Amino acid sequence: MRREGRITAGQQRALDQQVPLLGVSLADGKLDFRLLFGDENPVVCEIGFGNGQSLADMAEAAPDSNFLGIEVYQPGVGSLLVQVQQRALNNIRVSLDDAVMVFEQQLSLGSLSRVQIFFPDPWQKKRHIKRRLINRGFLDTLSRVLTSKGELHIATDWEPYADEVLELLNTHSSFENTAKAYAARPNWRPLTKYEARGERLGHQVRDILFVRT
Ligand SMILES: C[S@@+](CC[C@H](N)C(=O)[O-])C[C@H]1O[C@@H](n2cnc3c(N)ncnc32)[C@H](O)[C@@H]1O
Repeated sequence: MRREGRITAGQQRALDQQVPLLGVSLADGKLDFRLLFGDENPVVCEIGFGNGQSLADMAEAAPDSNFLGIEVYQPGVGSLLVQVQQRALNNIRVSLDDAVMVFEQQLSLGSLSRVQIFFPDPWQKKRHIKRRLINRGFLDTLSRVLTSKGELHIATDWEPYADEVLELLNTHSSFENTAKAYAARPNWRPLTKYEARGERLGHQVRDILFVRT
């Protein structure tokens, strides 16, 4: 599942230096966030953070929260870790494993204050729809790991995926919409790389913001 790709020397160096310090892997088993972060601050998890720009921005803007980023694309993790070093961020930890396995195997019940999934791979072709990350089974898993009143924030520029996720969440007994349908874009959500590309192509972005009941 790990995705390799063209990686810069700086990204590779950051991976080599920082993964032993800030990385978690499935072999670590259940994660104890107090031990992992060294404090009891609330933990936000971002799945598929891409190049990590938006995650680093959010972590820098919220020093009283902790951030667990999960991304299978190694150059992206390297890029995040370069920013962690440059900005001396101490509230970010990373996993390079498949988020579904991390959630199922490593995260405890009611342990996350927010899950954010910004621009999940849309898998537009009909025969690929089953590969989409967000489905009923994964929402069940997310509902177990989120704390009561914890937030689930999804953004996508692929309308059919947005409509499908909205419907799945509207009919899920453990989630409540914070908006009537789609949410206004919160001003604290930074523009992501993928989003900027979509904007250039004229795509409309939809934010979906639910809370765990
Ligand atoms: C379309 S990109 C969006 C990246 C970034 N959030 C942005 O908006 O620029 C989706 C990202 O999710 C990652 N991804 C997809 N499935 C994943 C999974 N099961 N676990 C962890 N990361 C995943 C991909 O590697 C990719 O970087």
